[in-house]
Amino acid sequence: MKVAVIFYSTYGHLYQMAEAAAEGIRQGGNDAEVLRVAETLPQEVLEKMGAAEASKVFAHIPEAKVEDLTRFDGFIFAFPTRFGNMAAQFKTFVDATGALWAQGALIGKPFGIITGSATQHGGQESTILTGMVPFLHHGMLFVGLPASLPELGQFQEVQGGSYYGASTIAGPDGSRMPSENELKLASALGSRVASVAAKLTTEVSLSHN
Ligand SMILES: Cc1cc2nc3c(=O)[nH]c(=O)nc-3n(C[C@H](O)[C@H](O)[C@H](O)COP(=O)(O)O)c2cc1C
Repeated sequence: MKVAVIFYSTYGHLYQMAEAAAEGIRQGGNDAEVLRVAETLPQEVLEKMGAAEASKVFAHIPEAKVEDLTRFDGFIFAFPTRFGNMAAQFKTFVDATGALWAQGALIGKPFGIITGSATQHGGQESTILTGMVPFLHHGMLFVGLPASLPELGQFQEVQGGSYYGASTIAGPDGSRMPSENELKLASALGSRVASVAAKLTTEVSLSHN
C-alpha cells in the first residue's frame, strides 16, 4: 500500500509525530510518503511566534499538492490544534480539494488523524472530531486507535492519544517534545491505516471477480 502522511507543524511536534506514523506504515512493508502543507502566515508573523527557526527542521519535506492525493491508498493527516480545531494552514489545503470531491476521487480511502496541543485538555479530541468532517464529506473512512494498544490505557504519565487518534502535548511553552508512548501511538495509527487500506483494496478486487 502507498500511504501519505500529510502534516502541518509550526514548531516541529507534529512533524515528529508524522515521521513516527511513516515508520509504522513502512514496518508493515508499505510505502509511506511524508508531505507538508504550505505555510500561510507571513514570515514576520512566524518570526514573532518564534517559529522561523523551528520550521527549518522540516523545510526539506516536499509540499503536498492536491492533485497528488489520488496516488495514495490511505492517509494520515497531522495538524496541531488551533482553539480546538484544525490549524488554518491545513484547512486551506483541504479547501483546495473541491475538484477531487467533484470527481469522487477519494471515496473509500481510509484516513487517521494526529494532533497536538499545548495543554492536556486543550482540545485534542475536539480537533480530531471536527477535523474528520471534511474527509467524511469526501466519502473517506475514518480510522481511530483500538483499546488493545497498551500505550493507550496507561495512566502513569501525562500523554496524548485516544480512541480518536494519536496526539502529543507540547506544554504551555512548547518545550515538551512527543514522548515514546505518543510516538508509538502515531506509529500504530500509520500501521493501522495501511492495514485497513490493504483490506479494502482486497475486498474491492474480490468484489470485481
Ligand atoms: C493560534 C494558536 C491557537 C492555539 N490554540 C490552542 C488551544 O486551543 N489549546 C491548546 O492546548 N493549545 C493551543 N495552541 C498550541 C498548539 O496547539 C501547539 O503549539 C502545537 O500543538 C505544537 O505543535 P507544532 O509544533 O507541530 O506546531 C495554539 C497555538 C496557536 C499558535
